Amino acid sequence: MTNNNTYFVANWKMYGNIADINRSMSVIRLVNQKKYKKKKIIYCPPYTLLKHFYSKVKNTKVSIGAQNCHSNSEFGPFTGFINAKLIKSTGAKYIILGHSENRDAGETDLTINKKIVSALKENLKVIFCIGEKLSEKKKKQTQKIIMKQLTNGLRGIKNIKNIIVAYEPVWSIGSGVVPQNSELSKNIKYIKKILFKLKIRKNIKILYGGSVNPKNAKELAQIKEINGFLIGGSSLNPKKFIDIINKSIN
Ligand code: PGA
Repeated sequence: MTNNNTYFVANWKMYGNIADINRSMSVIRLVNQKKYKKKKIIYCPPYTLLKHFYSKVKNTKVSIGAQNCHSNSEFGPFTGFINAKLIKSTGAKYIILGHSENRDAGETDLTINKKIVSALKENLKVIFCIGEKLSEKKKKQTQKIIMKQLTNGLRGIKNIKNIIVAYEPVWSIGSGVVPQNSELSKNIKYIKKILFKLKIRKNIKILYGGSVNPKNAKELAQIKEINGFLIGGSSLNPKKFIDIINKSIN
C-alpha cells in the first residue's frame, strides 16, 4: 500500500443505526487530523441512514456512499427501489456496485454495467466489486472470472476516473480467511493487466476486501499494489476500524 490516497471504505451492509453513527464520530474526529490528510475515509451505511450520516460528516474529510442502486437512472414505477439520482440527493459521493452478496441475489454483469453507467451519470464515484467464489478458485478459474467481470462490468464506460475496483474473493468475505499476500499480489497484477488490455490506461485505484481486521491489516497493507481496503464486519466497530487504518499506515 502506498501512502498516498489510501482508501478505507466501511461497508455496513444491512446493519447500523443512529447510535452507531454517533459512535463513529470518534473515528471521524480522529481522521480529521493532519496525519490522515491523504487518506480517504468513506462510510457506506444502509440507504435509510445516508442523509443523516451525511449531515454529520459534511464539514469533515469523511465521505458517504451507498451500497447499491436500481439500474434505471430515471425516476419510474419501481416500488421499493432507489436510483442513483436519489442517492446523489442524500449527499452521498460514492456507491458500491457489483458486491458478491448482490451478485448472489441474482445481479448479472449486464445489470451491474447498467448500474455503473447510471451512477457515473450522476457523478457518483463507483466502487466496483469483483472476485471469484471458492468453487471457481478450486477449479483454477480465478483469472477467467476476473476477466469476465471486469470486461462486462466496464463495457462502454468512458468515465474511468470515477471508478475504483475492489477485489473481494467471495470465499474471504465474512469468513476470517484472507488470501496469502503472494496470491493477492498476483491477482491484483492480473486485474491491472486486464484493465490495460481494456485500454483503461488511467491509474485506477484497486482495493482489497474480505475479512480485513486489526490483526491482518498490517500484513495486507504490505502489498504495494493495493490502494486501500473495503471493510465489512470490522467497520461497524469504531475501535477496530481506526485500528485497521492506523495499522495500515504506520
Ligand atoms: P467483511 O466484508 O470485511 O465482513 O469480510 C467485506 C465486504 O463484504 O465488503
